[in-house]
Amino acid sequence: MEWTGLNELRDSYLKFFESKGCLRKKSYSLVPQNDNSLLLIVAGMAPLKPYFTGQEVPPRARMTTCQKCIRTGDIENVGKTARHGTYFEMLGNFSFGDYFKDEAIAWAWEYVTQVLKLPEDRLYISVYEEDDEAEKIWHEKVGVPMDHIVRMGKEDNFWEAGTDGPCGPCSEIYFDRGEKYGCGKPDCKVGCDCDRYMEFWNLVFTQFERHEDGTYTPLAQKNIDTGMGLERLAALMQDVNSIFDVDTVKAIRDHICKIAGCTYGEEYKKDVSVRVITDHIRAVTFLASDGVLPSNEGAGYVMRRLVRRAVRHGKLLGIEGMFLKDLVKTVVDCNKCEYNELEEKYDYIVKVLTNEEMNFNRTIDRGMKLLEDLIADMQASGKTVLDGEDCFKLSDTYGFPLDLTREILEEKGFTADEEGYEKCMEVQRTTAREARGGSKYMGADETVFHRIDKEFASEFLGYETLSSDGKIDFLANDDELITRAEAGQTAYIVSAATPFYAESGGQVGDTGIITTDTGKAEVTDTQKAVAGKIAHTVKITEGYIEQGQAAHFEVDAKRRMAIARNHTAAHLLQAALRNVLGDHVHQKGQLVDADRVRFDFSHFEAITPEQLAQIEALVNEKIMDCIPVTTQVLPIAEAEKLGAMALFGEKYGETVRVVSVSDFSLEFCGGTHLTNSSQAGLFKILSESSIASGVRRIEAVTGTNVLGLINELEDRMNASAKLLKLNDPKLLTDRITSLLEENKELGKSADALKAEIANSMFADILERCREVKGVKVISAMLSNVGAAMYDKFGSRIKEREEPVVMLIAGTADEKPKFFCACSKAAVDKGVHAGKLVKEISAFTGGKGGGRPDQAMAGIGDPAMIDEALAKTDEVLEGFIK
Ligand code: ALA
Repeated sequence: MEWTGLNELRDSYLKFFESKGCLRKKSYSLVPQNDNSLLLIVAGMAPLKPYFTGQEVPPRARMTTCQKCIRTGDIENVGKTARHGTYFEMLGNFSFGDYFKDEAIAWAWEYVTQVLKLPEDRLYISVYEEDDEAEKIWHEKVGVPMDHIVRMGKEDNFWEAGTDGPCGPCSEIYFDRGEKYGCGKPDCKVGCDCDRYMEFWNLVFTQFERHEDGTYTPLAQKNIDTGMGLERLAALMQDVNSIFDVDTVKAIRDHICKIAGCTYGEEYKKDVSVRVITDHIRAVTFLASDGVLPSNEGAGYVMRRLVRRAVRHGKLLGIEGMFLKDLVKTVVDCNKCEYNELEEKYDYIVKVLTNEEMNFNRTIDRGMKLLEDLIADMQASGKTVLDGEDCFKLSDTYGFPLDLTREILEEKGFTADEEGYEKCMEVQRTTAREARGGSKYMGADETVFHRIDKEFASEFLGYETLSSDGKIDFLANDDELITRAEAGQTAYIVSAATPFYAESGGQVGDTGIITTDTGKAEVTDTQKAVAGKIAHTVKITEGYIEQGQAAHFEVDAKRRMAIARNHTAAHLLQAALRNVLGDHVHQKGQLVDADRVRFDFSHFEAITPEQLAQIEALVNEKIMDCIPVTTQVLPIAEAEKLGAMALFGEKYGETVRVVSVSDFSLEFCGGTHLTNSSQAGLFKILSESSIASGVRRIEAVTGTNVLGLINELEDRMNASAKLLKLNDPKLLTDRITSLLEENKELGKSADALKAEIANSMFADILERCREVKGVKVISAMLSNVGAAMYDKFGSRIKEREEPVVMLIAGTADEKPKFFCACSKAAVDKGVHAGKLVKEISAFTGGKGGGRPDQAMAGIGDPAMIDEALAKTDEVLEGFIK
């Protein structure tokens, strides 16, 4: 056995299985496609699930991949041990009803002993306790001695994930790393928890389907699913202690040590932080390259936790300033030979990560301060568990994911009330779950379309034509396949060919009419059903329709054209955005229908009005240049060479369709488009906004919708002009300017009038005042006095020489108030404005108070004002010395 680099190992494995006839595919995205059951890909088989169950036909019955995976189940232990990690690559070879145990076992052995040249006497095999067949193959066909084969129970040797889905017994290959890695116990053997016997390859004989009720039924086809952790295998081949010592991973580890100025292996605490950052930076670099953005939900939340945990451990190491950016470079350098997209997306990845690092840096100090205060409180009160609500607040307001809070608490000997935290999270979770839709392990719920033969597929004719003659091959309602649907009923029609576009890539499904000899159906929507089938949602409007009938398909051409205008405009928009804002702009989602374009894309700050005008002008320029829009179907490699833009994380086939508007815009796209850019007419942006951290949205209209917009604006302007009695709406601005001037003047004179009224009222009030023990008292309810006048009244009172107290119940404002002011002489005699209003307002059920010379209080029940004011003299008497 020879030292081999991680990248070379990957290649050697994939080449070996290619030589066995397997189709070699690049790793699928970390983000599951059309699968609600997983947040992230956890195994090589995960993106291939529909091939295992037979729901979809694989491109070849045997495949091999090296799949990027993330498992977060053990996230707490990452760093603490050298064994745990979240990100890893899984080498796999798969059979969908093709080869089975014989070949899977023989080839695994051949690869391990002939290619990797691992010494046979150090290899051990485990088989499922009931699987005689596998044991027999290992022993009789492959020649593994019986004392190197162990039988193990369901816990170890039956592979299944989740509550339902394909599963089966498995067989694992172990490598004896020698005594130096062992625990030294006399009964140490395969299956022992120590590092000596390392399990490195899992062969799953996927022959059952587990159901939610816990029962198993045999699958129609017998499959093979195998998984071997690439980093683990590399550790074995490089004879190093852990995955953190493997060449490509060590490069990152060393880089962190260099930034932090520490040496790996010297101090446990520092090693923990170095390992956390090493693992997490790999995970988040790949997450970013697959288009995941940090957020508070789903995969985005996993990413946020990983970034924030890495940043905090950077702080623990004493790293000053931002550091993720530097590390990304090393991750990219070590991995670009297999993942060449990393280099292209480098700037983008750095932006995504530094943005999140910056966000977290902004709150981390405040959050740490709060947490330290909470810990101090607990220390003082002898509590050992931090309240769930506090944990929630830390996560919600300060961005401390629970595991981070828990980790910090643990360092100081405390724990978190996780149940309480969960309760607080529940509301948020329920909403998220509802938004994601139902969740089943296999992700695809059984629909009526699964009852149609899985080989049956609908050909899409709609790139060339909008009408065609065909057949009603299948007719269904929500529950079952049916043979006939009558006027008034709704149903689904599936046929072998259709010009109707099924919703996809953000473009809505077509509508139109399907007719047969006996009836007519209005198509209200078109959707992709399972495995290449296109389903038209219809309402029967005349007669009846039967399965098997010949039928005429007619797409609503006007609507299709409006959609095409918006779709082509969306492509021009993306190109213009990249032109004006930079290459980091990538589509994050879109909706294209007959009314508008809604385009979401990555960008990190608000777009300035100047940039927006530039973008709009550029799109319009390309429209007016009358550029032909062309489509080509190309092998994927060729399309990539042309520089066509692909969607992040999308699963593409061997060939792709590329839509181009000269060389200004080239995109992978299955949508229906204009034939010339000029057909878009005109392009007008309606709005630009932020929809999530790092994601912005532009909404725009084209063609007749721009005309509609202009007409609407014109109507509004005319209506406004009419209100202002103007013949020409062009005069609106001037008229509004002069109206605003007038308004300002009117406001000024109103204020002057109010002051005058207040003055004369004040004089009037002083006339009518009483005296209590030598202090002049004014108390009154004034319905036209409000907060605006209190200060004026107050200063008039306070400037007086003689002892005088004024108590007003002002009811002009929405919230009536008592207001009280006293001259200095009155205060000297013992009067206290604050105490006075407090007592008086209490009679009305109100509250308040203030300084000795000026105070205010609310009025509870206004009906009690008179009665309360009547108590003034009595209360005052008590104060005056
Ligand atoms: N799916 C199997 C595993 O993850 C191979 O171990």
